[in-house]
Amino acid sequence: MTTRLLHTRAQLRAALGNRSGEVGVVMTMGALHDGHRELIRVARRRCDVIVVTDFLNPLQFAPDEDLSRYPRTLDADLALCSEESVDVLFAPDVAEVYASGEPQVRVLAGPLGDVLEGASRPGHFDGVLTVVAKLLHITRPDVAYFGQKDAQQLLLIRRMVDDLDFPVQVVAVPTVREPSGLALSSRNGYLDEDDRVVAVVLSRSLSAAAAVAADGPVAVLTTAREVLDAQPALGLDYVALVDPITLRDVGPGFAGTALLALAAKVGRTRLIDNAEIELGSADG
Ligand code: PAJ
Repeated sequence: MTTRLLHTRAQLRAALGNRSGEVGVVMTMGALHDGHRELIRVARRRCDVIVVTDFLNPLQFAPDEDLSRYPRTLDADLALCSEESVDVLFAPDVAEVYASGEPQVRVLAGPLGDVLEGASRPGHFDGVLTVVAKLLHITRPDVAYFGQKDAQQLLLIRRMVDDLDFPVQVVAVPTVREPSGLALSSRNGYLDEDDRVVAVVLSRSLSAAAAVAADGPVAVLTTAREVLDAQPALGLDYVALVDPITLRDVGPGFAGTALLALAAKVGRTRLIDNAEIELGSADG
């Protein structure tokens, strides 16, 4: 099936106006990979119409971040969408999305947006939520699919949808990884062979930590940190074991599902990863 490539809201409304059935949206910043492909496949199993959005949102990048060098691969993105029977690839430009210029009114992520990724990237999640809100209004889906790879983003989108009553169901899709364990990311293209050897330590630390879950939260966090610290070429930003709903650090004695989240620089490239860890009757 050939995916229709559309660039304007008017084209999108004309294309979707007379479609019936459930509409699913997969929002992306382009440079599609097999992680995005998995979101599309999960959506395809349920929805009658699939819209993929491909928009590199300047609002969620700080001036010193990688907006200008972020990979742009629209032709390949369109080919991937066609392979996966996506109905519409919506690739608007900045002027189409922010038609009135820089938005004066924005969605604020609040306290959940100030920790972890938000502590390192101030304002990032306000930019994410503002564009996700806009793209939900523009595409009007029944279901929206997001990856667990960006766990804090997913949590904040769920909160926005609940707190502001967006009429959409949010579905989470597990992280897709390379055989090495490295989580797929559009930014992996920045990594050379040496960087890749360093980058696998992220997922390795998560696996090592999960393996000692029975020993409690302190052991989990210590183990993750030891594996990360053993790779001197890694510029660790943070590693934290948090409650997946409040994002507050879990302490000794915590039982239940915790989120082990981390971010690190490999060369100039900032990577994130996370895993849910089941903590039983913790002994601290
Ligand atoms: P982007 O990084 O392109 O990711 C688009 C979607 O794909 C997100 O929901 C993300 O969590 C998911 N994803 C990325 N890598 C994945 C992997 N390895 N496994 C599973 N899912 C993966 O996230 C964004 O774009 C933007 O912030 C966006 C939500 C589009 C707003 O601009």
